[in-house]
Amino acid sequence: MNKTWWKEAVVYQIYPRSFRDSNGDGIGDLNGITEKLDYLKELGIDVIWLSPVYQSPNDDNGYDISDYRGIMKDFGTMEDYDRMLAAAHERGIRIVMDLVVNHTSDEHSWFVESRKSKDNPYRDYYIWRDGKDGKEPNNWGSCFSGSAWEYDETTEMYYLHLFSKKQPDLNWDNPTVRKEVFDMMDWWCQKGIDGFRMDVISMISKVPGLPDGEVGENGYGAFGPYVCNGPHVHEYLQEMNKEVLSKYDLLTVGECSGVTVEEAKKYASLDGKELNMVFQFEHMDLDGGETFKWNDRKIDLVELKKVLTKWQVSLMGEAWNSLYWCNHDQPRMLSRMGDDSPEYREISAKMLATCLHMMQGTPYVYQGEELGMTNVPFEKLSDFRDIESINAYHELVEGGVLNGEDMMRYLRYKSRDNARTPVQWDDSENAGFTSGNPWIMVNPNYKEINAKEQLSREDSVFRYYQKLINLRHTNEIIVYGSYELLAPEDPAVYAYTRTLENEKLLVICNFTKENQTFLTPEEFSGKDDIKVMISNYKDTECAANMVLRPFEAVVFQLKD
Ligand code: GLC
Ligand code: CA
Repeated sequence: MNKTWWKEAVVYQIYPRSFRDSNGDGIGDLNGITEKLDYLKELGIDVIWLSPVYQSPNDDNGYDISDYRGIMKDFGTMEDYDRMLAAAHERGIRIVMDLVVNHTSDEHSWFVESRKSKDNPYRDYYIWRDGKDGKEPNNWGSCFSGSAWEYDETTEMYYLHLFSKKQPDLNWDNPTVRKEVFDMMDWWCQKGIDGFRMDVISMISKVPGLPDGEVGENGYGAFGPYVCNGPHVHEYLQEMNKEVLSKYDLLTVGECSGVTVEEAKKYASLDGKELNMVFQFEHMDLDGGETFKWNDRKIDLVELKKVLTKWQVSLMGEAWNSLYWCNHDQPRMLSRMGDDSPEYREISAKMLATCLHMMQGTPYVYQGEELGMTNVPFEKLSDFRDIESINAYHELVEGGVLNGEDMMRYLRYKSRDNARTPVQWDDSENAGFTSGNPWIMVNPNYKEINAKEQLSREDSVFRYYQKLINLRHTNEIIVYGSYELLAPEDPAVYAYTRTLENEKLLVICNFTKENQTFLTPEEFSGKDDIKVMISNYKDTECAANMVLRPFEAVVFQLKD
């Protein structure tokens, strides 16, 4: 396999609003990021994926962009941005920008023009349709509740918005739209950025005719089959690659809702025609259900192993994986599949990290994950800031689909806001995030869980992530080795091997708080040249019949 820097890199995701506030207005900002670059350097990451910092009215916290070439006032100025970029580069850290081009804000000048008249030059930048029998053009529901169509009185037509009504979808079938997007991307590349994370890029090409979808619990039709991996998506990405990406040395990752393994081989093929890698959701969606993500079911480990193994094995040698447990759209994995009680918090955080970071693919660490940050004890609806969570509460509770108490429990478990509370820097007021009023509550556990404390201790979660990242940088087998699942039906233990030439790794992770036994494969048991590469207990030894302690994780290394 060809060796490239982005296969060997570890990415750290920053959600700027919640990272570090430098000027006391309660909102994280670019200067706050610059301040903390040494912290990230110490962690050892190679790349920062920066969630959107562009000008935006903030209906969806920056994922609704009104000027792609401007910086959001809350976050600072373009001079602050340039300083941050230069300071990152000085430290050998690359910056990957979020690229949100499935839609713009309704306050973007293109849309302001587009809605003015049917013959406006920008009309065809968006997806406008006539109503059908006095109703919406089709039955699609938006990701953020309600219809995916908004009626506009000026021209008496509807526009499509797969997300909020302040996020109208761009019409990618219009070549002028594609050219505008490519020019803007090129402008950022000229500035010296190092790549793009492409927001819901699998949804840019819609099936012509926009057919009705299958109706769900909320009464709306599902657009998925007509939007995800649509008819021209690969053609458009190949064009983007030819026009922009191929001219620079970039890391490109597509957020691909609804992507299958077969589709991923096209998006992220090693031949480099489209993107470097995709973000897939199959493992994250395992606890979904009739009311979508809103429930408190646990992910079944056997299912999880099956899905992750499918991605590991199928992409091997053909396309590239990204690896993640957490991001700004997911609750904290530690509270989801680990155990966030004081007793097991750190040990289970390290177990989850081991399990993920030993796989093939580019790992993503989401801010605070390296500290063992947990879900948040939100009490009431007014504690939430996220448009998806708030709208879903109204739609499902007021629509009688769920009762208020259940929905609150589900929000507490699954809401995106669990990932969006401020990074806990120290045990001072507001966790050292701001000297003002934070825009969203601080998790009250910041006195115990914070960076200052984590850095002061050799056995902390932070130090463990540091070790994992360093191991990846110094052992090619972790990057390029092939993967094989062991004991697929074991409901408690996730074990797999990695193999590269004459070297082999055995990764064993106990996902429960009970002791578990595990039969070590013969080639590992009884050998005296077996080394422990990393483990979350101090005294782990290789045995034929291992008794794993609660959330124990270990990587054994065998070299001929
Ligand atoms: C992506 C983003 C999410 C955002 C949505 C709409 O899924 O990760 O945060 O709300 O797209 O832009
Ligand atoms: Ca600020």
